[in-house]
Amino acid sequence: MYKIAVLPGDGIGPEIVPEAVKVLEVVARRTGIEFKFTEALVGGAAIDACGRALPPETLELCRQSDAVLLGAVGGPKWDALPPEERPETAALLPLRKELGLYANLRPAYLFEPLAEASPLKREIVSGTDLIIIRELTGGLYFGPKKREKTEGDEMAYDTMFYTRAEIERIVRLAFQIARSRRRHLTSVDKANVLTSSRLWRDTVESLKGEFPDVTVEHMYVDNCAMQLVRRPTQFDVIVTENTFGDILSDQASVLTGSIGMLPSASIGGSTALYEPVHGSAPDIAGQQKANPLATILSAAMMLKYSFKMDREAAAVEDAVGRVLAKGYRTADIYVPGTKLVGTAEMGTLVRRELQEG
Ligand code: IPM
Ligand code: MG
Repeated sequence: MYKIAVLPGDGIGPEIVPEAVKVLEVVARRTGIEFKFTEALVGGAAIDACGRALPPETLELCRQSDAVLLGAVGGPKWDALPPEERPETAALLPLRKELGLYANLRPAYLFEPLAEASPLKREIVSGTDLIIIRELTGGLYFGPKKREKTEGDEMAYDTMFYTRAEIERIVRLAFQIARSRRRHLTSVDKANVLTSSRLWRDTVESLKGEFPDVTVEHMYVDNCAMQLVRRPTQFDVIVTENTFGDILSDQASVLTGSIGMLPSASIGGSTALYEPVHGSAPDIAGQQKANPLATILSAAMMLKYSFKMDREAAAVEDAVGRVLAKGYRTADIYVPGTKLVGTAEMGTLVRRELQEG
């Protein structure tokens, strides 16, 4: 029996998360493995209910669970709060930090039927299958920061801070993941300008002897942004700093048709966390318009990384592929000639394929 903490959060979270939970329930029936789901509050929903974005009970539940499934947090209602109270900075970042989730895996895989949904040309996106490994508990997000009034002015800073040990653990993991894929690692930095990037690059160089079967290349982050939309098929595994990974993963999502397709796994601690890369999308919340596939694919990552159920993970991915091949689309990936469906309907279609497959 596995215990799964379920944190729907805000905006479209409460619409997409149940679709993924129901997919896991089908997996449970197929395999006889039991999942125990416990729901908890996080983000704006938690602020409204109890005044705190990450209530201690929620954190405790996550710690005691075998995996966490999260929807999204944040929305205009809470944007005006001071930074230390906002859902993003008071719930999501501390949750990642407290659980020790230093590695964020963001695969950008194009399901071929979606090639037409990308604003990029089919011949560019076709064959995209890469994974961004974003360092998640250090770098610019977590280094020393300050904002203060000075004489007649105001100043603020954030610091891109890393220790060699922090870089080593994420880079090692990236090498290992590269080994399980096409054995090509691109380390992305800004070593022509940033000191922390030079430490990053030196660390990669010092580790590569341990992984002689993996080819390593260094790439500046600005060039990587360009290469991702110019020739994405050159990438297999990308490893990079927290902020760089945040930005590059949104960009990479366009290769898959929509950010509504991009799942993620945050690993490294004792309990891993799975969440779609997209946000809470308040503009379409409560309208059954959201794409649940990123969350369903995040649940597939949970099966693979937390429960070592690789076959079931692949079965969920295949079910998603078949639904797309049959022409069903949520609004974000809709093109004329395909069949437009809502959030719950998309979830039902995936489960039907999974049951039949
Ligand atoms: C993401 C998001 C978060 C981040 C925000 C909501 C704090 O953009 O998961 O990519 O920057 O990490
Ligand atoms: Mg982001």
